[in-house]
Amino acid sequence: MYQTIIADLLSHPRVVETRHHMHHSIPKHDHMMRVVRYSYRIAPLVRADRRTCVRAAILHDLDSRLGTLSTHGAIAAEVAASLGEPDEVSMAIISHMYPLGPRPTTREGWVLAVADKIASFPDMTAFMGGLITGHSLRVRRRLCETDPFYTKRQRRRRIRRLWHSIGRRGLSGGA
Ligand SMILES: [Fe+2]
Ligand SMILES: [Fe+2]
Repeated sequence: MYQTIIADLLSHPRVVETRHHMHHSIPKHDHMMRVVRYSYRIAPLVRADRRTCVRAAILHDLDSRLGTLSTHGAIAAEVAASLGEPDEVSMAIISHMYPLGPRPTTREGWVLAVADKIASFPDMTAFMGGLITGHSLRVRRRLCETDPFYTKRQRRRRIRRLWHSIGRRGLSGGA
């Protein structure tokens, strides 16, 4: 099963922390595991290397916030290389946003690009389904508090609000 192929990565801090990061309004870890499962199933259908596909899938969106829709594949590919993954894994990751990013050049790259697109639908339905019970919004609120991208943004907003209110008070005080 795919768990044995990525057992070391599943316990790696860079992957574990994605449980607290937001992606498509759900935990990024949920999205990456969905892409793992689809990649695992699709790989043998196109005679792609299953191990490469699955390892690329669990890493493919690491540090995605640091790039844009078209560039974050390259960023995650670098992260994968820094974790000691072979070039084949990085090559698959770099093109996973195709057609917004570069075109895949390997079978494994195509598997990941397709698996990522398919996964975005259940990501969305999982979020929509949870709206009825309130679960999705609770998860989203929790992720906003734990995802460094949002906590930094919220801190900047608080500082800006404070700055404006002090400015207004300063002006009215001086009038
Ligand atoms: Fe991505
Ligand atoms: Fe993705």
